[in-house]
Amino acid sequence: MGIVGMGYVGLPLAREFCRGGMKVLGFDINKQMVEKIRRGISPIKHIPHQEIREMLQTQRFQITDNMKQLSQPDALLICVPTPLTENREPDMQYVETTCKTIAKYLRKGQLVVLESTTYPGTTRELMLPILERSGLKAGRDFFLAYSPEREDPGNKNFRTATIPKVIGGMDKTSLKKAIEIYCRAIKTLIPVSSCEVAEACKILENSYRCVNIAMVNELKMLFDRMGIDIWEVIKAASTKPFGFQAFYPGPGLGGHCIPIDPFYLTWKARQYDMPTRFIELAGEINTNMPYYVVMKTMEALNERKKSLKGSKVLVLGLAYKKDIDDVRESPSLELIELLRDKGAQVDYNDPYIPKTHKQRKYNLGMRSKGLTAAMLRKYDLVLIATDHSSYDYEWIVKHAHLVIDTRNATDKVRSNRNRIVKA
Ligand SMILES: NC(=O)c1ccc[n+]([C@@H]2O[C@H](COP(=O)([O-])OP(=O)(O)OC[C@H]3O[C@@H](n4cnc5c(N)ncnc54)[C@H](O)[C@@H]3O)[C@@H](O)[C@H]2O)c1
Repeated sequence: MGIVGMGYVGLPLAREFCRGGMKVLGFDINKQMVEKIRRGISPIKHIPHQEIREMLQTQRFQITDNMKQLSQPDALLICVPTPLTENREPDMQYVETTCKTIAKYLRKGQLVVLESTTYPGTTRELMLPILERSGLKAGRDFFLAYSPEREDPGNKNFRTATIPKVIGGMDKTSLKKAIEIYCRAIKTLIPVSSCEVAEACKILENSYRCVNIAMVNELKMLFDRMGIDIWEVIKAASTKPFGFQAFYPGPGLGGHCIPIDPFYLTWKARQYDMPTRFIELAGEINTNMPYYVVMKTMEALNERKKSLKGSKVLVLGLAYKKDIDDVRESPSLELIELLRDKGAQVDYNDPYIPKTHKQRKYNLGMRSKGLTAAMLRKYDLVLIATDHSSYDYEWIVKHAHLVIDTRNATDKVRSNRNRIVKA
């Protein structure tokens, strides 16, 4: 097995194939990360170092930045990033570069599978012509398939091996070859009739979440005006044993998938003269959420005869969701920028993110502050942006002057509830 891109998706896949008794060769252009993994250090919080060491001890796992070795594995799974450009269009440079490199070393009999999330048509329209520049023919000399990753970082109920996997092949032989490979590591495989169906399936899953989260975010704002607690409403609605799936509001969408992937479809839909209205409306509502949180924060300070300008704010949680160390697209970053723009002095605490790194959009240059009772009292308000399980919310509310809670993290706090404002 060759796995190209050893990040949040590639590394867990490598682990599962290794556990399945296969020889795994990981490829990544990030030399530092390759070195780390070689020394048994996990670059991802929810993958313990011990698991990397166990993989290395089997002698079946290796990692390299030497792409000349791409011709060695029988199968190459591509798990490279698919972000958006500044203009919110698909940024396919990583997939393209990877395919160009693979084409240089492609040999007869190899299977190539794209795992990265993308618009329907990518495998056939973008990858196939690049790979065939090698002189080899898909379906005859090499095989091509698409199988979307469904990783849910931090979810303790599922691991890569137990999440059913959808697979579409460029042709029947490619699908058969892909099934033969994946069944070594994944318990349930769902073959579909084409790469396009598998690509569209992943986009549907993520658009479904994006649109439903937008709906509860909108209802949160409406119910707040009506004096109704959205969290209590969702809890009550969840008792319906059929036909209702709970989605929860928050300070905005975060992560590598939900805020980005639906816009891959929006872009593709333009080629068919179709607007994706649900997705665009959802994007509008979700993008507005950090602004809403800042407005609620200003109102709460106003009630206490204070202004946001000059106030000291501690943002709790930088990660885009609880108990992980991933800040990509995190609404906390946007919140910090908006609060600073309004003249607040902002610090953050996140047990999993000791400092911020430069990103495409943000360069905050901050370090996580320690969390003590005296520290909490120094701030005019504490804003809960990520509901990490390790936080003691009763203790936080006890020592903070004001708590803005965007995640209903303080639901079970019994004392000092007058200090809590849900936003
Ligand atoms: N993170 C998730 O939870 C998740 C879930 C489902 C799907 N996905 C999708 O999976 C894909 C990968 O996401 P990720 O979170 O693993 O990204 P990531 O940034 O964690 O990892 C990608 C890795 O690819 C490497 N890379 C980039 N270009 C390369 C090249 N040309 N050759 C070799 N390596 C290269 C990078 O150095 C990086 O280590 C994306 O399309 C994403 O949308 C991610």
